[in-house]
Amino acid sequence: MPYQTLNNIDCVHKVVLLRVDLNVPITNNKVTDTTRIERLLPTIRELLKAQAKIVILSHFGRPKPNNDPALWDKAHSLKNILSSVESIFQVPVIFVDKCVGEDVQNAISAANWGSVILLENLRYYPGEEANDPEFAEQLAKLGDIYVNDAFSCSHRAHASVTSITQYLPSVAGRAMQGELEHLDKALTTPKHPVVAIVGGSKISTKLDLLLNLSHKVDTLVIGGGMANTMLAAQGIDVGQSLFEPNLLDTARRILTESKAEIILPDDVVVAADLNDGTNSYMVAANAIPGDQKVFDIGPLTVEKIKSYLDRASTIVWNGPVGAYEYAPFDQATTKIAQHVAVLTSTRGVISVAGGGETVESLGKAGVTDKFSYVSTAGGAFLEWLEGKTLPGVAALEKAGE
Ligand code: 3PG
Repeated sequence: MPYQTLNNIDCVHKVVLLRVDLNVPITNNKVTDTTRIERLLPTIRELLKAQAKIVILSHFGRPKPNNDPALWDKAHSLKNILSSVESIFQVPVIFVDKCVGEDVQNAISAANWGSVILLENLRYYPGEEANDPEFAEQLAKLGDIYVNDAFSCSHRAHASVTSITQYLPSVAGRAMQGELEHLDKALTTPKHPVVAIVGGSKISTKLDLLLNLSHKVDTLVIGGGMANTMLAAQGIDVGQSLFEPNLLDTARRILTESKAEIILPDDVVVAADLNDGTNSYMVAANAIPGDQKVFDIGPLTVEKIKSYLDRASTIVWNGPVGAYEYAPFDQATTKIAQHVAVLTSTRGVISVAGGGETVESLGKAGVTDKFSYVSTAGGAFLEWLEGKTLPGVAALEKAGE
């Protein structure tokens, strides 16, 4: 692999700056999805075993940066998730209410070997998002080694993700390594045939992704609202359904230039409104009534998709194929997810999924832990599917040269 990992560096009695992504959902001071924290456990356990001092760096939400700590908005303090971090790591965590400077340095020096120290939200500092080398250098001064375990932030060229690697030996943590290895297996060096399932409401947000996948995979299944634009591009009347009239030419281009076979819905589930599920019904995709909206793909299309999945060695998934938050429009997404789960356990198919809504819909279908790998990344996963070089990964590769 072109980057170094914890295998390549001795962390015994070293101060390790560990960049993680603690940008977790929180309601009433309670973390509602702890997956990102749990994924850090292998790295944390390994560093604790080495009696390192683990200094955790993270952002949390998008606060307005300010040089004056008195003006930091408390709702974005990482102190709000301290107890969740402690209960998952099962060790006490020292919280320091700044990220750089003498107080932070003193807190780290005073801590015992084998301690975990959580610093305040990096994005309170203007230097973080500005990728300011001075801020990166101030951070780097706090430790001996930099470990990046935050794949989900690696699409951000921020000080604690990229610039910091210029000042310290820098390696990937176990979560980052796991993510990169699985993503590599799914798209860079996959076992063919590869089937990609792409859903979501708009083509406009996933244009680069569709273009990239249509040249890399063997079969590209398009569902969700974006399939309406594809159908409309073929001259099909999609009734009152959401579609993007200004992207019809682009959609036609994708359809004609794609190297992958593109599967669009042959039948769909329609209703007058999202909340009108009880009156929904199935129609052929070329016979959508003028007063109806498409909210899911139909059962015949699900069977067709399953037949392609049955022949696949690798399956990549981003985006639900229907309005999965509203029953019964979750049916197709759930059935396909459950089928992929079965293929993964019975036929050893490599199945990789990612993106906020995708992960939520797999959770709803009860199959999150039955896929080979589910990425915790949102934007970073999309950029990776687009074939982009992620600045955080590139920085680790450069540091590893
Ligand atoms: C995420 O939640 O996708 C990452 O933490 C990145 O957050 P951002 O989109 O605010 O940079």
